[in-house]
Amino acid sequence: MQEELLLTPGPTPVARRTYQAMSQGIFGHRTNRFKALSADIQNKLQPLFGTDHPVAVLTSSGTSALEAAMVNLVDDGDSVVIIVSGVFGGKFADIAGRYNFKVHIYDVTWGQAADPEAFREYLNGIDNLAAVFTQACETSTSVLHPLAELSKVVHDYKEDALFIVDAVSALGGADIHMDRDKIDCLVSGSQKAMMLPPGLAFVAVNDKALGKINRSAHGRYYLDLKMYFKSLEVDYTPQTPAVTLYQGLDDVLNMIHDETLEQVYVRHKNMQKMLRRGIEALELELLVKEEDASPTVTAVKSSPEEIAHIKDELENNYHIAVAGGQKDLAGKIIRIGHMGFMFPKDMLAILSALEDILSRLRNKNYYGKALTAAQESLYEQA
Ligand SMILES: Cc1ncc(COP(=O)(O)O)c(C=O)c1O
Repeated sequence: MQEELLLTPGPTPVARRTYQAMSQGIFGHRTNRFKALSADIQNKLQPLFGTDHPVAVLTSSGTSALEAAMVNLVDDGDSVVIIVSGVFGGKFADIAGRYNFKVHIYDVTWGQAADPEAFREYLNGIDNLAAVFTQACETSTSVLHPLAELSKVVHDYKEDALFIVDAVSALGGADIHMDRDKIDCLVSGSQKAMMLPPGLAFVAVNDKALGKINRSAHGRYYLDLKMYFKSLEVDYTPQTPAVTLYQGLDDVLNMIHDETLEQVYVRHKNMQKMLRRGIEALELELLVKEEDASPTVTAVKSSPEEIAHIKDELENNYHIAVAGGQKDLAGKIIRIGHMGFMFPKDMLAILSALEDILSRLRNKNYYGKALTAAQESLYEQA
């Protein structure tokens, strides 16, 4: 009868207080009450994105924001470059492939971050570049790409090209700031570091991207961002919003505000460090090197037999849910989420479970080893 500890890289745990906020009862969205809620959300959401422009809130999952960015910011015949370093870069490529864009794929070895200088070389010779798409965190490998550096490369190459970032598994956990990092369009979703259930997606754009949206003739209806930004001028949404999730969103933004963004980033970094040092102490391999590692998710490598055994034991005997590898990494890694409503104590919980599982499996005493390494990593940072 134990409650499951949800350490997947999305969905992530939701706080009891957020569930309570979402159970206030449904109310109409063409009301002053909704307008007040929407306005209040904007005031708190914009600083999280690092912009003072309105952030469109869509009642749909993260992928809708990826597609919205494409169909609003790219026209037929435009060249787009997609940085593909895993499954979610592949999703961008998949979406783009359904439209009449000239799609160029910049492949990055899975488990590595894009190298800005190599990317600079790659861009040479791409005509009519309209936009470059990348993940912030490629959730399937646990890499965090160097956004500010990549943005500089894109804008050096063509000033009016758009740099578009999928931060579904990063925003609210990694220090990303649209204006500072010169990101033209930043999209995200609700069920990861945003500490909400699935069902909301977010799209923020700067003036340059907004201009393109207003000029673009590309077909779209439900995902037409022009309608969202127009409605936001009067604190409405074009279609019926998920009012209940809006109530939750208001609550999580209050939580982030109270903790402070700075501290939120420190907490995520601390969890990452604890986990990485603990994993090393258990003689397991980390897929991603230190400089490229995301503060929101960590991929752990071992033999297929150990991976299957660990995942199974965690689930069945410790009630800890983690994610496996996807596509090429299926069966080769487990991915441990550490974003959103997760805390250092949760890292200690999974590391102590891993100590036990591996001690028994390998017939070697790991008790206390990972916990010591994790706690020392916190102590060193204090
Ligand atoms: C980086 C990234 N992009 C996009 C998505 C897709 O989001 P959704 O499943 O909410 O549509 C995910 C979901 O895991 C993700 O991690």
